[in-house]
Amino acid sequence: MPDSTLTAVKSDFELAFGRVASGVWSAPGRVNLIGEHTDYNEGFVFPFAINRRTYAAIAERDDHLIRVSSSFSSDVHQTDVFSIQRDDSNGWAAYPFGAAWAIQEMAKSKGINISPRGFDCFIESDVPVGAGLSSSAALECAVALALNELWAVGLSPRELALVGQLGENQIVGAPTGIMDQSASLLGETDKGVFLDCQSLDAQIVDLGFARDGLELLIIDTKVAHRLVDGGYATRRAACELGAQIMGVGSLRGLSVADLPKAKELMDDLTYRRVRHVVSENDRVVETVKVLRESGPRAIGKLLYASHESMRDDFEISVDELDTAVETALRHGAIGARMTGGGFGGAAIALTPIDKISEVSLSVTAEFEALGYTKPDIFVVSAAPGARKES
Ligand code: GLA
Repeated sequence: MPDSTLTAVKSDFELAFGRVASGVWSAPGRVNLIGEHTDYNEGFVFPFAINRRTYAAIAERDDHLIRVSSSFSSDVHQTDVFSIQRDDSNGWAAYPFGAAWAIQEMAKSKGINISPRGFDCFIESDVPVGAGLSSSAALECAVALALNELWAVGLSPRELALVGQLGENQIVGAPTGIMDQSASLLGETDKGVFLDCQSLDAQIVDLGFARDGLELLIIDTKVAHRLVDGGYATRRAACELGAQIMGVGSLRGLSVADLPKAKELMDDLTYRRVRHVVSENDRVVETVKVLRESGPRAIGKLLYASHESMRDDFEISVDELDTAVETALRHGAIGARMTGGGFGGAAIALTPIDKISEVSLSVTAEFEALGYTKPDIFVVSAAPGARKES
């Protein structure tokens, strides 16, 4: 983090609350290389933490009040540390409140005695919101990491990932999986996080993009997606129905060999949802294998196959994402797909460095020709996970 940003978040805290922060904690957004809508089906994902972060400057209080403020809105939201509940009027503050609630729940479930105090918190972030890059996980994880230290809870990064997910599910009300928080907490420079969402076993895998002359472009379509809206939840419900029909606890219990039987037993829509998840799990495992054996230039076809599956079977893409993917591939990207929850947000394009400008200009021109909002296109690299900054 540049010193100037650290100075800014501390002085903004002082302006907002009239006292000095006791520390600054940060956590990154994430991009998912492959493995979409597999996490809540206990499958595989392969995301990495990105070099866009959320910073939380925090100081404890002597009472039980929590106050949160940020550089992106003038509102100060507040609640009592012992009576946090779901309340849609909290807006973005539901994420830090959710982390504060969930860490207490996690401590209780593990028999850890804590005496939580209230706190003041100021947030700054350069993770784009609504782009499918998990600004939400960055926010939850920065706050969860801070409270883990300030309240002396002693949870591991894997447990803190569960804290973030619990807060998001119960207090924000988004039925999301464990991928985003895991990437934000476990990420490392130039590495991907290959996570088994059933066992929560994580392998840190070398990406090797720079070594092979590649960069990962993010094409933010500016079509805002919201995970609390219905599309995400209905996809999740279809997966649960599919698992139930097949008599397995989750779709992780199925392999490609089970698909013909699934096709016989369920309606076409449920079948296609199931086929996406089952085939996507295979693609994640294959991507990690190919990456390790042959390097990143060999994974392009798998990325595109994932996009086709999301477009045709899971039906979570939109025209802007399809245009971004097809245009990037036509102009030199070696692989591209939509990333994140879908219904908007961003596409990724794994692109040789000497093609970055051609791909960016062509996608921008194509969007303009089709009358779409101008996309935001930038490169990300794999960055370290959540940490204390000062
Ligand atoms: C969102 C959720 C994740 C995951 C992805 C889809 O990012 O927060 O848990 O389900 O969508 O892969």
